[in-house]
Amino acid sequence: MKTLFDETCIGTMQLRNRLVRSATWEAMADETGLPTPRLIGVYQDLALGGTGLIISSATTITGDAARIPGMLAIPDDTCIPAYRELTRTVHDAGAPVVMQLVFPGRNGIFWTPGDPTCDDIQSIIKGFGDAALRAQQAGFNGVEIHAAHGYFLSQFMNARKNTRTDEYGGTVRNRIRFLREIMSDIRAKTGESFPILVKINCSDFEEDDGVWDACREACRQLAKQGISAIEVSGGIHGTPFPPEGLPYEESVFRDHATEIARITGVPVILVGMNRTPAVMTELLNTTDIGYFALSRPFLRQPGLANHWRENPDEPAECLSCDACRNQPDGNVCPFREFPEGET
Ligand SMILES: Cc1cc2nc3c(=O)[nH]c(=O)nc-3n(C[C@H](O)[C@H](O)[C@H](O)COP(=O)(O)O)c2cc1C
Repeated sequence: MKTLFDETCIGTMQLRNRLVRSATWEAMADETGLPTPRLIGVYQDLALGGTGLIISSATTITGDAARIPGMLAIPDDTCIPAYRELTRTVHDAGAPVVMQLVFPGRNGIFWTPGDPTCDDIQSIIKGFGDAALRAQQAGFNGVEIHAAHGYFLSQFMNARKNTRTDEYGGTVRNRIRFLREIMSDIRAKTGESFPILVKINCSDFEEDDGVWDACREACRQLAKQGISAIEVSGGIHGTPFPPEGLPYEESVFRDHATEIARITGVPVILVGMNRTPAVMTELLNTTDIGYFALSRPFLRQPGLANHWRENPDEPAECLSCDACRNQPDGNVCPFREFPEGET
């Protein structure tokens, strides 16, 4: 029987358990997008807390990209030393760490598929590859391409949002071309063995046109290109989570993730309302899903992985209330309890 605490590998990364910290914008980067000591402390807590794999918050690939306040950025090589500090801290605390890469837009404006010219698209593809190489040089164990939640890359997969008539719009094959070309550029720049992950929407759950078809085909093709793991998510940033109409209260995208694991044979990470070890263990043993990513529960309990090792019968304390998104000073859980003397 498989357990959440099996030691496994994703490509060259060794994981001490199957619990993954899903990318979570902390709103703690400095004004240029570099990690602050406080933000590095968040990652250190997660690593000391036993987390199997840590995925950074969405990190913009270019300097002029639209940034949400406090968001990370890796626009050029001068950033590398600051990120080295982060990766060193996490490694010393015992966990591998992957950088999530995102392109939101330019000149402070969020882009949609209609905005870029083909030349822009080529420069964004190159931007992902260059950013991945910087992440590798800074000591990250891999990168994750953010193609979920209605952000730029994810919009390309939705035929209602992507109305382009060139080779990046129209058919499923065209709508996933951008993602595939990004994967190729990253692979070419970082070498054969550097882990590349993708976070992808199974459905937008609103104004959705063809996202599941595009998701399945993208995952099939990325598997052929050597993707290391696929994190299956869904929904649109800024809308209620979990989306309505799903048959489960926990581990809500389990059916989609099961199908992606079946058709690709690649390690699949399920994200979205993973809260109970027994539910995850059951999925682990009845499907090919191999990993479970959590976001909000780790804000309340950064030591949740170690806690579950000792207390597998206790569900996460997270209320899924989203108060963490509305705090005045960083995305923290207002209900988090600190040991005496700490804040
Ligand atoms: C405060 C906050 C910030 C988030 N930032 C990101 C992000 O940077 N990148 C991303 O892919 N998802 C982000 N998410 C979504 C989570 O990774 C995750 O997919 C979602 O919250 C569902 O998981 P959960 O039910 O365990 O919270 C964020 C979620 C929250 C609550």
